[in-house]
Amino acid sequence: MSYLERYDSIPAENVSDRVNVINQGVWTDWTQLFKELRESRPIFITPKFVLVSLFPDVQEVLSRSEYFSVRGYTGKMDPVFGPCMLSRDNSEHNWREKSIIRSVLPLEDLSMVRKMAGEIAKSSLDKSAATGKIEVVHDLAKFVPIRLCGDYFGFPGPNLETMYRWSKTTQDDMFRNLTNDPTIHEASVQSGNEMRAYLSELLKEKRAKETETPTNFFTYLAQFFQPKTANNDQKIAPGDVFTRLANTKFPGDIPFSEERIIAHMIIFLVSSIEGTAQVITQIIEQLLKRPEIFQKALAAAKANDDETFDKYVWEALRFNPFSPFVVRFCEADYTLAAGTPRETTIPAKSVVLASIGSAMFDSAVVTHPDEFSINRPNYNYMHFSYGSHTCVGEHIAGVVVPEVVKQTLLRPGLRFLPGDEGKVEYQGYIPARFVVAYDK
Ligand code: HEM
Repeated sequence: MSYLERYDSIPAENVSDRVNVINQGVWTDWTQLFKELRESRPIFITPKFVLVSLFPDVQEVLSRSEYFSVRGYTGKMDPVFGPCMLSRDNSEHNWREKSIIRSVLPLEDLSMVRKMAGEIAKSSLDKSAATGKIEVVHDLAKFVPIRLCGDYFGFPGPNLETMYRWSKTTQDDMFRNLTNDPTIHEASVQSGNEMRAYLSELLKEKRAKETETPTNFFTYLAQFFQPKTANNDQKIAPGDVFTRLANTKFPGDIPFSEERIIAHMIIFLVSSIEGTAQVITQIIEQLLKRPEIFQKALAAAKANDDETFDKYVWEALRFNPFSPFVVRFCEADYTLAAGTPRETTIPAKSVVLASIGSAMFDSAVVTHPDEFSINRPNYNYMHFSYGSHTCVGEHIAGVVVPEVVKQTLLRPGLRFLPGDEGKVEYQGYIPARFVVAYDK
């Protein structure tokens, strides 16, 4: 029986059984559930959530922040880093913080970041080579962004274990604790307190260090708009992102205090580890599952053709994306897909699951969505969400993820281990363990 048949067979007044059917689909089998929804109930109002599954409707939800807000993140994020761009719509936080953060993560850094990610990945793969296998989730896919958090963002943490814990506890509460379990929330707040204490000390060190970074924010920004000469290139700050922020003097009427600098260092950790690890793991799995595609991607990797290689990576991710959906809170009654046969009014106070994962399989927009194709236009992909909260680290992840996958594919004889040992172990839809084999 399909999910919708099971749902419809339960009397409407039996809310908890109906919700259980949908919960089961959302958490354990979202691709099947959303396939049914795209075909027969594209905007599905249940007693607990509203599920939105088609490409244009997901984009509509994510472009109407006055109706579909990120209010749900506030209670989880504020105790850890205060009001921030992801937990406030159309606010001074979103406007100011996004501008400042984009300026300290310039596109000019990308080739350096890609190289750093490649070197870290190689070191991890080299270390495991003697055993002929590697546990991808922790020893590679999390290890690389955690090391980058130190080497590039400037937040190395006291040790790896603590970094893993800070990252996991905060992510678990902010993005996965839909039942608002207080234990999960407390662990996240505790990690936030520990990070603030650690980063306050580190900030003093960063400030004490003499760096090449120009100290006035506008002078610092200006260098990116000067015509490129060898001399100008040398002026670009070599420091890590924390050093850039720590040594930038903001004019008095631009409120970006020490507390906000520390908050953003926490945001870098929270946003850059778990998601990166998850997608690297899932992409490697998806490529290994398709031997012919794997060989083509490998050929692009061997030819050092990153432009082609990266297309394999993002297409592979479409088949098991980072997040099936992003969550929004409906602020006022809103008629979605108005004027179409599926037009539906979403009542105020609904929790809306806008399925970016499902949207990438909407055949009205994405041609032959069940086929693996590297010829899709970029707009077909919503891996990094859409609209005013599109990922600020999209360009960083955009080079780190493919480079780590590339270095892994380049290992001779990369393959699944036989039987269950070779399967990705998932907790919900998050990979917890995945061991792959390769030759020395
Ligand atoms: C593969 C890795 C990553 C994935 C899959 C990813 C995915 C996402 C997604 C889906 C959102 C939107 C959430 C929503 O709409 O509710 C988002 C937002 C965000 N991401 Fe990422 N992200 C990744 C890496 C990073 C990195 C490296 C950074 C660090 C700079 C970062 C910083 C952020 C921030 C600050 C936001 C909030 C933007 C806003 O509200 O305007 N992410 N990310």
